[in-house]
Amino acid sequence: MKKTDELKAWKKTAEHFENIKNLKLKEIFHYDEDRFERFHIELEGLIFDYSKNIFNYDTLAYLLELAQNRKLEFGIRDYFAGAHLNHTEARPVLHTALRAGLGKGELIVDNKDVGETVAASLAAMKSFTDNIHNGLYKGYTGKTINHIVNIGIGGSDLGPRMVSRALRPFAPSGMKITYISNIDPSDIRKTLAEIDLEKTIFIICSKTFTTQETLANAKTAKSWLEINVAPDAVNKHFVAVTNNTDQAVRFGISEQNIFGFENWVGGRFSLWSSVGLSVALYLGWDNFQSLLEGARLADEHFKNTPLVSNIPVIMGLMGIWYRNFFGYSSHAVIPYSEDLNLMPQYLQQLDMESNGKLTDSEGRHISYETVPTVFGASGTNAQHSFFQYLHQGSEPIPVDFIVGVISNSVGPGENQHDILVANCLAQSEALMLGLTSEEAKANMVAEGLDENEITRLLPFKTFPGNRPSNTFLIPQINPKYLGMLLAFYEHKAFVQGWIWYINSFDQYGVELGKKLAKGILADIGKQKVGKHDASTTGLLGHYLNNRA
Ligand code: F6P
Repeated sequence: MKKTDELKAWKKTAEHFENIKNLKLKEIFHYDEDRFERFHIELEGLIFDYSKNIFNYDTLAYLLELAQNRKLEFGIRDYFAGAHLNHTEARPVLHTALRAGLGKGELIVDNKDVGETVAASLAAMKSFTDNIHNGLYKGYTGKTINHIVNIGIGGSDLGPRMVSRALRPFAPSGMKITYISNIDPSDIRKTLAEIDLEKTIFIICSKTFTTQETLANAKTAKSWLEINVAPDAVNKHFVAVTNNTDQAVRFGISEQNIFGFENWVGGRFSLWSSVGLSVALYLGWDNFQSLLEGARLADEHFKNTPLVSNIPVIMGLMGIWYRNFFGYSSHAVIPYSEDLNLMPQYLQQLDMESNGKLTDSEGRHISYETVPTVFGASGTNAQHSFFQYLHQGSEPIPVDFIVGVISNSVGPGENQHDILVANCLAQSEALMLGLTSEEAKANMVAEGLDENEITRLLPFKTFPGNRPSNTFLIPQINPKYLGMLLAFYEHKAFVQGWIWYINSFDQYGVELGKKLAKGILADIGKQKVGKHDASTTGLLGHYLNNRA
């Protein structure tokens, strides 16, 4: 197979870029009053506006040709059908099946009925969730459970943590949730000291059940429970979510409290599987079900909509346009919602663990750029930290703005949500329009500044503009629309990985550091610095000499 930058459409897109790289968004909006009409997509009342991107119809045609050169439509078909797209680990990639509502016999992969497997897993989760919510499941001392503590990291933490935070207005009152991920003892120590153990369920969430941080934290929680409640309280208060049942049993979790999932669910795509148990327990089953339903609607859209009006395809192609042709190295995601403030972190794993690769699917070194750095924070907070860079920094950063039409939290007579929305729209407008020196000068004249002061300040007060963005205007940040939004981002990562011709579903890059950490931990255990480079030797020596 050709490398992506050897494809005809890639070359044509590169030539086209040279012709339109100086296109000014301000001007094209001036001449094309219908640009928003032309370049937004609506689905279930959700609006995806991509009109504030630097492109024209030709650009779209070239990018779509690139997708077709790479046979994206076949890729999408195979993705949903359970082909072994994760070829390095010889597995299908089937997280979409977790929310598809498949009937018996509808999807058989590797001689297994996927629909049946998913239905059984969902039924077990539902029954456990309902029993906790209606008080049938009680703790060791007979108290009802009202606190969920999820111990996991990476995909076994970020998705559920972000969703629980995003949907906290939907949690029944009195239900509490805590996520522990970091091996830094301050994370778990503080939680254990504050919770009512008799009313708490610990979910040990780990696909492999071998992750160092998760196991160490789980061990601490287990001993704490054994000492402070009773040695056999673990049976009632510990649950495992894993693909490695044997290991969970060995750890001491009773088999009926183990929720499995298949190895075709990748960690960063696992929120929809039993990894979402903490979310279901916190929000109740109906809300978890709506989250799955929203994702299913996005899946249907992705699977069945022509590429030109397909939200994740457009997201992916615009990202490639900026990364590979403009050469922009970052992408910002700014949800104008405090509840969504963990979404950028979640997307960092989704995008950067999936597509932070330098080897293509045939093992060849990649000569073009792959995923940009993804970062972000909630608006309006971000406006008061790094937005200076977005407006006047030396490299433009494309932005995704996300905002809800209806607030989940606004009180009577308050206009905070209007202020929030106004800021969101204003920022995308400001990034696009910028401020010319004539405009900046006129502003300063209006402010009454004298001629000398105006001349002195003018270069600092102009904004280049022409900085692109997408905007998601969502009816409400609720389970259904959050599910849709997250599935769009999953599919965007898929589209980009497919076009960059990489396996988006493995993560070998995380292994080297883990292995070296084991060696260094062994050195620490022996109080002796082993064979390392001079820097590591120096740092480790200092640590050994100074640790308490
Ligand atoms: O180290 C990276 C990683 O393997 C992620 O891909 C994964 O989500 C995370 O660790 C946690 O893994 P596990 O669920 O097996 O504990």
